[in-house]
Amino acid sequence: MNSKVNLNSILGLIVVVTIAITGSVLLGNWLHNVEAASLSHAPLAQLPASQYAVLAWNDLGMHCYNRDFKDLAVLPPFNTLWAQVIEIGDPPQVITTGVSVEFLFADNTYSVGKSNFWSYDQQLFGVDLPPNVGLTGVGLSGQMTVTGDHFEAVGIPLTEFSDSAPTTPDPYQLATIIVKQAGSGVELTRATVVAPVSTEMHCDYCHYNFGPGNDDIGTGVVEQNILTLHDEENSDEYPPGHTGMLMNRRPILCAECHSTNALGAPGVAGLPSLSNAMHEQHDGKVPDSLDGCYNCHPGPQTKCLRDVMASSNSKLYCVDCHGTMYQVSKKRNPWLNEPRCDNVACHGSGYAQDQPLYRMSKEHGGVYCEGCHDSTHAIAPSREFNDSIKFSALQGRNGPIDICTICHSSWPLLAGPHNKLYSPPIIYLPILNR
Ligand code: HEC
Ligand code: HEC
Ligand code: HEC
Ligand code: HEC
Ligand code: HEC
Ligand code: HEC
Repeated sequence: MNSKVNLNSILGLIVVVTIAITGSVLLGNWLHNVEAASLSHAPLAQLPASQYAVLAWNDLGMHCYNRDFKDLAVLPPFNTLWAQVIEIGDPPQVITTGVSVEFLFADNTYSVGKSNFWSYDQQLFGVDLPPNVGLTGVGLSGQMTVTGDHFEAVGIPLTEFSDSAPTTPDPYQLATIIVKQAGSGVELTRATVVAPVSTEMHCDYCHYNFGPGNDDIGTGVVEQNILTLHDEENSDEYPPGHTGMLMNRRPILCAECHSTNALGAPGVAGLPSLSNAMHEQHDGKVPDSLDGCYNCHPGPQTKCLRDVMASSNSKLYCVDCHGTMYQVSKKRNPWLNEPRCDNVACHGSGYAQDQPLYRMSKEHGGVYCEGCHDSTHAIAPSREFNDSIKFSALQGRNGPIDICTICHSSWPLLAGPHNKLYSPPIIYLPILNR
């Protein structure tokens, strides 16, 4: 998709520059730099301005939490950011010492008042959390912690509401990741990355009063309609230790009885996992299509599937990768057993994952797939401008990281990512918008 070699032979009018821009240089700035560099016939492999680069991303392409926790909770606010810091060099090195990494949300500094999660944390999760602190003790800003070869902030209690527009959902919230020199605290580099978050779960499409999901129930509240129906259908099977009508002991955490690996919740043995239960019960009630999945996954407004495979000619949607409602409902180990990029029907062994999950897999130089390609459902280049910001800052345009000198101080002539050879980049004037 990004073969510079082919473009080189097809097009004339070429200016060659190597780009090594790090930090927060945005596109406009970059274009300016390119012009200047091309006029002075910049040499190949200019040394980058900074000696460090940071790749950062949200582990999942979308996190969903409940709009209202008063009656029930499927998922709490819980975003997870990862970052890898690279010391630029020949060869480059992924580092976790000598630097500290912070995260913050410049326009999303508080959650209490944007979500009522903190009014129900004790009843739902058995902990009384300080305001704006999530289930892992992490807040909306702070230090990221070293976990093996990367930095993490796990369980950020982020909402979809910016401070500047606290009632308008914006599912593509922006985090700032700042790398500092340990000790001195001098900033080395930073990145702006999306933390995707949404409450767009449309149970309301069918579970409204006397709606098709509960045609004899009308409590006045969608969530209570669902709980009443669940009691009618299943209360005689509620396991020991979990008896009593759900309606009488709200708020209800579904994971109390149905296991979910999203929360590491074991559930009650013998009951279906939440994923199996939900997809089985709703099989045949929504079409096996993108719009069908958007009934519960965010959603007709959010359109969480924004990656290159959905927007390119291949038009891959949920069912192409995950299968139908029926197939999802029969899956063992939900969340841990997901589609693979290296499936023979997809990209094959040339793009092998070294772990069962894409999000845990690494490739070239120990860099995570998501570091170069971004999260699932947001695989670069994504449709959303916010997703493109970090790629434009590093390499002047959207798309996967393919400029070797973001990490290497000179352009390597040996094979790079996916064991391929790459020529130095060619910049065309006027710049082609790809
Ligand atoms: C496209 C319509 C539709 C949507 C959207 C929908 N449901 Fe349903 N749901 C149904 C129908 C139809 C039934 C079956 C009703 C019956 O058996 O009387 C049902 C049944 C249920 C049941 C009862 C399961 C049982 O047998 O115990 C639960 C719980 C439930 N839905 C929860 C939800 C939740 C939570 C959401 C949102 C995340 C949701 N539903 C979204 C249509 C829908
Ligand atoms: C007190 C325990 C308990 C809680 C809490 C609970 N469930 Fe259930 N649920 C059950 C039992 C028991 C069944 C019946 C299982 C069976 O038929 O094998 C069931 C069945 C279901 C089914 C139908 C499964 C199917 O295959 O048809 C759905 C859907 C469901 N639950 C969704 C939910 C949702 C959503 C929540 C949270 C709002 C929830 N449950 C909370 C115990 C619970
Ligand atoms: C009626 C609501 C509903 C519909 C429709 C729905 N889902 Fe889900 N889905 C859920 C809920 C709720 C969860 C979260 C379960 C959990 O927390 O473990 C989930 C989780 C998942 C997961 C992660 C867990 C796993 O099984 O690996 C996948 C993948 C998934 N859904 C795929 C799909 C696809 C594909 C479609 C459309 C064909 C779809 N879903 C339609 C409610 C729905
Ligand atoms: C191009 C293939 C592809 C398409 C299209 C796709 N997914 Fe996924 N999905 C994946 C992969 C791969 C994972 C596993 C990511 C990982 O490693 O955690 C995944 C994971 C998930 C998860 C688990 C949470 C997570 O992010 O890991 C859910 C839920 C999910 N997908 C729902 C959907 C829905 C709903 C759609 C359509 C709107 C969809 N997917 C479209 C490939 C796809
Ligand atoms: C250091 C950056 C980097 C890392 C890490 C990386 N890739 Fe890539 N990837 C690239 C570049 C550059 C290309 C474009 C060249 C090509 O097609 O081989 C690419 C291409 C791909 C393609 C082909 C896309 C197409 O258009 O056909 C797939 C699939 C892919 N990578 C999957 C992965 C997976 C899976 C991982 C992790 C196991 C991974 N990548 C890790 C840089 C990276
Ligand atoms: C995101 C950072 C990153 C990018 C981008 C990147 N590399 Fe690397 N590369 C590394 C790391 C880290 C190593 C591992 C060095 C080691 O093993 O100590 C490495 C090692 C290598 C090596 C072997 C060691 C050496 O320096 O000779 C080659 C060859 C190489 N990369 C080629 C490439 C090519 C070609 C590209 C561009 C298409 C590229 N790399 C892009 C991070 C990167």
